[in-house]
Amino acid sequence: MNPRNAAAAAISQVLRGQSLTAALEHPLAALPTPQDRAFAQALCYGVIRHYYRLNFIAGRLLGKPLKTKDQDIQALILCGIHQLQAMRVKPHAAVSETVAAAARKPWAKSLINAVLRNYQRDAAALDSAAQTDQEARHNHPAWLITRLAADWPEHYLQLLAANDQPAPMTLRVNPRAQSRDAYLALLEDQGLSGDPVHEYGITLEQAVNVEQLPGFAAGAVSVQDGAAQLAAALLDPRPGQRVLDACAAPGGKTAAILERQPDLKVLALDVDPARLQRVQDTLKRLRLTAELLAADASQPATWAQGRAFERILIDAPCSGLGVIRRHPDIKLLRRPEDLDALAELQAKILDALWPLLAPGGVLLYATCSVLRQENEAQIAAFLHRHADAAEITLTADWGQARPHGRQILTGWENMDGFYYAKIGKSA
Ligand SMILES: C[S@@+](CC[C@H](N)C(=O)[O-])C[C@H]1O[C@@H](n2cnc3c(N)ncnc32)[C@H](O)[C@@H]1O
Repeated sequence: MNPRNAAAAAISQVLRGQSLTAALEHPLAALPTPQDRAFAQALCYGVIRHYYRLNFIAGRLLGKPLKTKDQDIQALILCGIHQLQAMRVKPHAAVSETVAAAARKPWAKSLINAVLRNYQRDAAALDSAAQTDQEARHNHPAWLITRLAADWPEHYLQLLAANDQPAPMTLRVNPRAQSRDAYLALLEDQGLSGDPVHEYGITLEQAVNVEQLPGFAAGAVSVQDGAAQLAAALLDPRPGQRVLDACAAPGGKTAAILERQPDLKVLALDVDPARLQRVQDTLKRLRLTAELLAADASQPATWAQGRAFERILIDAPCSGLGVIRRHPDIKLLRRPEDLDALAELQAKILDALWPLLAPGGVLLYATCSVLRQENEAQIAAFLHRHADAAEITLTADWGQARPHGRQILTGWENMDGFYYAKIGKSA
């Protein structure tokens, strides 16, 4: 295994429907050095991030598509073009190393060589041809361009461009361990710098491995996007209250809530037991406690046993269309037909948990989506169904006020695309 084989193997898996994180696991583990792993990972993310543009160019160069069983060769060609276009690899090495990576299919070597040399020769013409094709120009699938343009006619071009920018690394300082300013000073001692965001956040100038963050293992700091950090303050639980975090894994918001206010009885629920283990790990590192339960939030009859909560957070399963810059494979994996099913599940969870909210209590609904169907339209329909529900207006200096809730579009103030709505229950 070398980095280009590893990247091609992972990309082929994504093209077959696997998530990029899962697809990278084995190929990366088979590489001998951290440098090889870093290169393979950067190559994979780059190719998947620019897939629609690269695939258009590869299509022009190949003339006719390769057979499905040769998806690894297709992936190598995309890797080759991406190295030539955007990576700091010497062009002759980009070509020769990519050709060499096809060792197991000797017939493909001359094909890859010809395709990449033709790309080098005709790059300007091919890049400008890509501008004439909708998917290649915007580097998104056509259905998603249409959908985003319908929801955000004034912002969709900015949104499409933001989806293709790598996301920054943002930290949430644990206020129980030290102040944000004190942590900024610790970072500076390590030669790292960043900008403050919200109450406890720091957006790093450059991403680093978490092991390089002072005090990470001891719980001084966590990694969490600025938009996700808003949840804890919006939920605003008071000492002694019962809090249900209904879709909790991997536990970023559970931890943020408890860091601000440890005197709470938190039930962290997630339907996926393996993901729930990650909540356990997070809480352990931060020395926080919550009750954890692997259960279906849409079926409280099976687990709630008459319990009530003063605060409920529903960080709902969603399309993830606000976090494409972190997970570019979402562009390839998400299908338009997923959206109705997701919206149905969100409505089911909202309706199922509403009776568990104590009178006078507050429910916070969140998604990392930018689609109205999952956000303001979801909440409008919910309010229509529940006479005892009243929206609490979010006055804030972030995002945009919507007919219901507030929306952050991807890249605004360097944050992920996110949505929040706060609903109170009459006393
Ligand atoms: C957006 S993620 C939550 C992120 C988490 N709140 C955090 O801040 O780290 C949504 C979670 O909902 C969970 N989920 C999906 N369907 C569910 C259901 N019916 N009941 C409970 N959890 C569910 C998924 O397993 C996933 O972990």
